[in-house]
Amino acid sequence: MADLFSPFTLRGVTFANRVAVSPMSQYRAREGHANDWHMVHLGRFALGGAGLVYAEATAVTRDGRRTHGDLGLWDDAQIGALRPITAFLSAEGAVPGIQLSHAGRKASERRPWDGETPVDAEDEALRGEAPWTACAPSPLPYAEGWPTPTELSEGEIRDIIAAFGAAAGRAREAGFKIIEVYAAHGFLIHQFLSPLSNHRTDAWGGSAENRQRFAVEVARAIRAQWPEDLPLAFRLSATDWIDGGLEVADTVAAARALKAAGVDMIDCSSGGIGGKDRPRRMTITEGFQAPFAATLREEAEMATMAVGFLWDPKTCNTLIAEGRADMIALARELLDDPNWPLHAAAALGADENHGRWPIEAGWWLMKRDRLLQKLGLRG
Ligand SMILES: Cc1cc2nc3c(=O)[nH]c(=O)nc-3n(C[C@H](O)[C@H](O)[C@H](O)COP(=O)(O)O)c2cc1C
Repeated sequence: MADLFSPFTLRGVTFANRVAVSPMSQYRAREGHANDWHMVHLGRFALGGAGLVYAEATAVTRDGRRTHGDLGLWDDAQIGALRPITAFLSAEGAVPGIQLSHAGRKASERRPWDGETPVDAEDEALRGEAPWTACAPSPLPYAEGWPTPTELSEGEIRDIIAAFGAAAGRAREAGFKIIEVYAAHGFLIHQFLSPLSNHRTDAWGGSAENRQRFAVEVARAIRAQWPEDLPLAFRLSATDWIDGGLEVADTVAAARALKAAGVDMIDCSSGGIGGKDRPRRMTITEGFQAPFAATLREEAEMATMAVGFLWDPKTCNTLIAEGRADMIALARELLDDPNWPLHAAAALGADENHGRWPIEAGWWLMKRDRLLQKLGLRG
């Protein structure tokens, strides 16, 4: 029986355990280039024992960035700074992954702590960060107070699909071993998938198959650049939580279409299509999105990752052991404790004497434990 600390294989890649670091934007890049911040931020999770470490949402075009601080892979010059990061993660036993993204109508946004509102002249004056025009399947603003995006032409759609393919080639050059495509949380691919944001009447809108076309074409373009033996995942918002939007059954159908295009795993998130107010139907509880991972795993017959409000090792282990997900992604819990996987392994009886720790720490902790026991200071 699988558990949180049993290995998991997708194509030619084996993850040492089922714990993944969920993509977390750092807003620290300059013109899309990674730097020491990204090395330290991601590196600590490899030292903390995660089997998969995803780098944050990484823009496939300059205009596809959400904020001025986003990572990017729209230019070959951006590959070099990522190489030492993937080399470090791999050397420390984690599989290095990257999330490829295009923000669509959510582009040109302020960082969370600056308000997560549209960039305007004030940002240019304060930080030299000018606003730019966002694009979308349909000219519908993300939320009240947001500018109306331009409607993508057929040629522009094809260019963005090609940009996903080119970025995948650069991700390969940079040493990543798994790609996750960001097709959730109201970003461009989700904007195509959801009938709430896609009002097109051409081949890219209307029927479910037409709304899925952009996602499927992105998967195909990536597969053309991404080696056969490396896995490809998609993060989907399983439901929009809004009447008239995407429901789980729609997402099962989308997952099946993606599987046929060479996608191996679905990371099951939800929401984000319209504004920051939480939809009435959305109730947040521990592991509230995990049932989506179970449904997609069963009905689309593919690997799934559960994510969202998970922190308890036993809960995470049960999801794997009961076959409701193949991997577990954590974000905020890992910010709080980058060593969570090592602590979880000990709590679940999957580690003795700090044997999973990097020896530079584990050896000392093992010795300290023995001394503490001998002195009767700790049980
Ligand atoms: C600092 C931070 C940055 C995030 N950036 C991204 C991102 O780049 N891409 C993404 O898909 N989700 C992003 N998320 C969402 C997380 O990946 C995750 O889905 C969400 O936080 C729920 O998981 P949690 O309850 O374990 O934090 C971010 C979350 C945080 C806290």
